[in-house]
Amino acid sequence: MRRRIIAGNWKMYKTSSETGEFVRKLLDAMGGKEAHCEVIVAPAFTSIGAAVEAARATVINVSAQDVHWEDKGAYTGEVSGPMLEEAGCSHAIVGHSERRQYFGETDESVNLKIKAALRHGLIPIFCLGETLDEREAGKTFDVVQRQVSRGLDGVQIESPDRLVIAYEPVWAIGTGRTATPEQDQEVHAFIRKRLESVFGRESAEGLRILYGGSVKPDNARGLMNQPDIDGGLVGGASLKIDDFMGIITESA
Ligand code: PGA
Repeated sequence: MRRRIIAGNWKMYKTSSETGEFVRKLLDAMGGKEAHCEVIVAPAFTSIGAAVEAARATVINVSAQDVHWEDKGAYTGEVSGPMLEEAGCSHAIVGHSERRQYFGETDESVNLKIKAALRHGLIPIFCLGETLDEREAGKTFDVVQRQVSRGLDGVQIESPDRLVIAYEPVWAIGTGRTATPEQDQEVHAFIRKRLESVFGRESAEGLRILYGGSVKPDNARGLMNQPDIDGGLVGGASLKIDDFMGIITESA
């Protein structure tokens, strides 16, 4: 059985005081209702300390939204794996479509970042997914296949819980547009097959593949009922306690 993961990606929202307050309120609201899943929040770099502090010795894990591929060096503005590890992060999002779209992230840099995260004991949340143009051109499976094989080239994991995949169709992120859960399931099953050829059958069966892109309380259950959808990477709806809680409870 794969344990579900509900992860909130807060993007460039919430200062550190807002972050600490949100985590405390979320813990109050959860009160055990999250027992079926792992809950992760991914605040901005400056708010990681506040999130870690508020989540200490609780069930909430803290993720970074990105990680540099080098451990240190002259890379102004960047943050490395050892820094995140020491700050108390357990996970790092890698290859989010906004990083690919606005900051020149490529399959190659994603690959290096996944390896850097693993080197420092961080669990990468590896994001992939097709754009609208690619989908309309019937290239979804080609794109996903390329992202999986290049992103994971040479990547080794000790066990399936050391890596999380997030399938996020770019056209569904922040738009309110979604495919049907069955269409998403088809892509998830395809990704799991690809993972099988990278890591072998047993590991692929244990890897969690999250869906992301306009996940809300009212569509969460339909998504989570699909056999290969193991949780959600949630943007907008993770910024409000009620919506985030709604997704957590609907995913039970
Ligand atoms: P959204 O974002 O839930 O606002 O669509 C998802 C994401 O970017 O991970």
